[in-house]
Parts: sequence; structure tokens; C-alpha cells
Amino acid sequence: MGDLDLSGLDPDRVPRHVGLILDGNGRWANARGLPRTAGHAAGEAALFDSVEGALQIGIAWLTAYTFSTENWNRDADEVEFLMWFNEDLLLRRRDDLHRQGVRMLFAGDLTDPRIPDRNRRHMAEASELTRSNTTLNLVFAFNYGSRRELADSARQIAVKVAEGTMSSDQVDEAAVAAHLYIPDMPDLDLVIRSSGEHRLSNFLLWQAAYAEFVFPGILWPDFTQTHLLQAVLEYQQRERRFGKAGKG
Ligand code: IPE
Ligand code: IPE
Ligand code: MG
Repeated sequence: MGDLDLSGLDPDRVPRHVGLILDGNGRWANARGLPRTAGHAAGEAALFDSVEGALQIGIAWLTAYTFSTENWNRDADEVEFLMWFNEDLLLRRRDDLHRQGVRMLFAGDLTDPRIPDRNRRHMAEASELTRSNTTLNLVFAFNYGSRRELADSARQIAVKVAEGTMSSDQVDEAAVAAHLYIPDMPDLDLVIRSSGEHRLSNFLLWQAAYAEFVFPGILWPDFTQTHLLQAVLEYQQRERRFGKAGKG
């Protein structure tokens, strides 16, 4: 900890919420003649180095896309590995993260019966243990899909309107946001996707409405806290307009 050179960083313009689409694990493994699962295992170090970096930089929210609602379409062996791996990682990292004051949260459809019960229980335990922590909100987007999140929000609102506890006039942007998986999650300021792909793949569509994007052309297992800092520095050079007229 504490080994990043932060001299070029503007402390007043640190992105509050950074999203990480950790992509390229399979290609990293293929390039070494290893099974795809070895790439996922290698990606763990990159994720936790990024968490250390986020703590140093002073990022308040970091969301890591670890399993999408579309990832069930992979081979059964890989899906089974990812279910086990995401659980094992929680068990191994939870206490260290807790000591560092990290609050662990999970965004996704956790009611899905395909998620092993043990995994579900460990996610609930990790969020319960760390719920009062304040150094960093670390969100695992697990079995996450933005379209499902928005459909779930709409359904919850529809139930309230049908019950008469909410009127249709109250259905506005704030109401939709209040029914997302993590209602206090702020909008994304910066989204980083590794591996050279330039797409969101159903990641936080609502929250990314005005996010800046950085696409390091490296595979996820090669990503480090230095790459995170570089992306933040690039973000700080951008002019965000939010629909207003530009300066130049
Ligand atoms: C990202 O790496 C990890 C997950 C989607 C879980 P990939 O597994 O997508 O790696 P590539 O894109 O096939 O190289
Ligand atoms: C996005 O990566 C999902 C995660 C990082 C968990 P994918 O590798 O699944 O996305 P596509 O299929 O290339 O769009
Ligand atoms: Mg991929």
C-alpha cells in the first residue's frame, strides 16, 4: 500500500465511482497454452491490486464486473469454476478487506437458483460483516445484467402502483434509481474496460449515462493499480459537459 506516485493527481477531481469491466482473462490464458480458468485465477491479483490503488487514490466506489447474466452461456465447466472461484475469493479476501475498512456489496440477481446456496450465503455474510465500513464501497457485479436490473426496478414500481402505495405520477428518474439493486450507488464517473474491447456488455447502463470511458489495450490479468491511476489521470483531462455548451 502507498506506493503509487500520486503527484500528478488532482485531489479535487477524483472520480467518485469507477467501474471495472475486467475482460481478457481467457485470451491471457490462451496465449500461454493454459485453460481459460487459469486466466480467471490470474485476474484475481489484478482486481485486488486495483482495490489497493483505489484506496490510495481515494476513490469512494469501485464496481467490478465479475459475472454477467450472459456468462451462463459459457461451457458448464467454466461457469462452475466461476461460481466456485467467486465464492472462494470472498472467503480468502473478506477479512483483509474488512481490516482495510472496505464495505463489500453485491449487485445482481442473487435470487437466481443457478447460484449455489453456499455462494449466496457467503455474499450475504460478507456484506453483513462489512456493512458499516467507509474507506471504499467495493461492489461485485455478480450475475449482473443492466437490463434485468431495470426490468426488476420497473416491476417493483408496478407492484407499488397496483397496490396503491405509489401513484403513477411519482414514477420518475429518482423512483427508478431508488429501486435499483444498490439504491445509494452514485452514477459512474469512469468506466475502464481492459482487453481492447469497446463495449458495455450490459454493465450499469443507467449509471453510466454520463460516464467517461477508458479502454486500456491490455488483458485483465496484466492490469495493475498503475493502470488504474493512468485511467484516472486521463479522466482528469476530460471536459465533462452533461449536456451544457462546451468551453472551447
Ligand atoms: C473476463 O474475461 C472474465 C469474465 C467474463 C468472467 P473473459 O473470460 O471474458 O476473457 P476473454 O474475453 O474470453 O479473453
Ligand atoms: C463482460 O465480459 C462480463 C464480465 C466482465 C463479467 P464478456 O467477455 O462476457 O463480454 P463480451 O461477451 O465480450 O461482450
Ligand atoms: Mg471477455
